[in-house]
Amino acid sequence: MNSSVRESGFLLRVLVTLVGLTAAGMAEEPATAPVAAGGSAAFTLPALPYAQDALAPDISAKTMSLHYGKHHQAYIDNLNKLVAGTPWATGQPLEKVVVESAGQADKSAVFNNAAQAWNHAFYWKCMKPGGGGLPSGRLMDLMGKSFGSFDEFKKAFLTAGVAQFGSGWVWLVQEGDTVKIVKTSNADTPLAHGQTALLTCDVWEHAYYLDYQNRRKDFVQAFLDHLANWDFAASQLK
Ligand SMILES: [Fe+2]
Repeated sequence: MNSSVRESGFLLRVLVTLVGLTAAGMAEEPATAPVAAGGSAAFTLPALPYAQDALAPDISAKTMSLHYGKHHQAYIDNLNKLVAGTPWATGQPLEKVVVESAGQADKSAVFNNAAQAWNHAFYWKCMKPGGGGLPSGRLMDLMGKSFGSFDEFKKAFLTAGVAQFGSGWVWLVQEGDTVKIVKTSNADTPLAHGQTALLTCDVWEHAYYLDYQNRRKDFVQAFLDHLANWDFAASQLK
């Protein structure tokens, strides 16, 4: 193969990738940046707790492939580039980077990528094939006290997910002996606000657009009815 043919092939792959990312709502995301040459990556993409097609048809394998393999990977890659040569690149827990960079204007890029890396790793654990149903035990007791009933919780979570303007997340969090629903914009995360995250649904368009287009409500409903992993949420209680 001569060089011009190889270059044409490369340009075609770049074009296909760009078209695919735009179709998936990726225009709202930063581009992947390579780790500094010669340096080992401080952070790595955690394994998914299930196969990429395991949540279909509620979340398709195509969405999972882009969301996990491209978006989540991009946050990891960008974070590694941003922290290269800093104390954050020396085996620090990701949570520490999120908390320490939060609220610092000159560290906003580190925070955005670290928080998104953490949020996504948490989000994958918040779902499972055959999920949904009801929580049990202490979590159910706390939810009953806070929301009156599980149905009322679902209505409030759905409303919050739909009401989040633009990109963001809807969460069930614990504060002391109560649980509540909060929304965060863009990369913001309960970790940065002293709250304990129990469950989250990603309501960035990239999380659902290929499968639901503009029907975010249907996506959040499917998350609650078929995907939510209440055993994981209960395991996060303090
Ligand atoms: Fe996402």
